[in-house]
Amino acid sequence: MSRLLEGKIAVVTGGSKGIGYSIAKRFVNEGAKVVISSSNAQELEVSAQTLNCDHFALDVSDSTSVKSMQKWLVDKFGTFDILVNCAGAVRFGNILDATEEDWDFQISVNLTGTFLTCNKFAPIMNNGGAILNISSTLGLRAMEGAVAYCAAKGGVVNLTKAMALDLIDRIRVNCLCPGVVETPMVKHRIETGQATREYLENVQPMGRMGTPEEVASMALHLCGPESGWTTGSIISIDGGQTAA
Ligand SMILES: NC(=O)c1ccc[n+]([C@@H]2O[C@H](COP(=O)([O-])OP(=O)(O)OC[C@H]3O[C@@H](n4cnc5c(N)ncnc54)[C@H](OP(=O)(O)O)[C@@H]3O)[C@@H](O)[C@H]2O)c1
Repeated sequence: MSRLLEGKIAVVTGGSKGIGYSIAKRFVNEGAKVVISSSNAQELEVSAQTLNCDHFALDVSDSTSVKSMQKWLVDKFGTFDILVNCAGAVRFGNILDATEEDWDFQISVNLTGTFLTCNKFAPIMNNGGAILNISSTLGLRAMEGAVAYCAAKGGVVNLTKAMALDLIDRIRVNCLCPGVVETPMVKHRIETGQATREYLENVQPMGRMGTPEEVASMALHLCGPESGWTTGSIISIDGGQTAA
């Protein structure tokens, strides 16, 4: 049976764990040659070995680091087809108690990081390629106590639309906005007492968190051959969270 991404080369930032890892795994299973990246080189190498894919240690918020990966991609592949911007980080804090350092950190990883990889990698991507940005339901609506994360993820939503227009003849650009998905990021919140499992489940009208595999299925659709007319689209995948 033919696989959906046979012959394609895909880069997944934040691919060492969580949603990015599941997207990379799904893409490998669909025949793509995949490169995962993240900043913790040791974790990244273990994940790449498990997935049997390539890897490159990268801090998406650092322009020099992104340029190094661009050079590595050109030397190794010449060009590639799919970019998934999944690297992200959250620190909670409201407009009164968030520090400037919290703000800079979250804007630089979530928003500037997405800009930098697109800015440096889109020129070396094949015509007919696809970019997928991972925002959040908190890019569409607000939650108290997450001021910088909401601003950064909201920025990713409109950055997606602007890039889709700029790249209209070459590359489709879309954005996924997940609700609460059970990943290391969310497990850490539960384990450190920042939120209960029951609370995080009931944020979704469906009464449960999503799985990384469910997000990966939608990512495959948006980066694969069956969404050829979809660009500039912002798609929530959230157990009904933004419908409520
Ligand atoms: N889980 C949720 O409920 C949820 C909901 C909505 C949106 N999201 C978004 O989905 C994406 C994935 O989240 P997740 O839950 O899978 O998180 P996760 O389990 O914490 O994984 C985050 C990934 O991003 C990488 N990363 C973080 N900072 C980076 C940097 N500066 N440069 C390169 N890589 C970096 C991490 O590796 P290193 O730490 O080694 O760098 C890791 O691979 C994020 O953008 C997140 O905001 C998550």
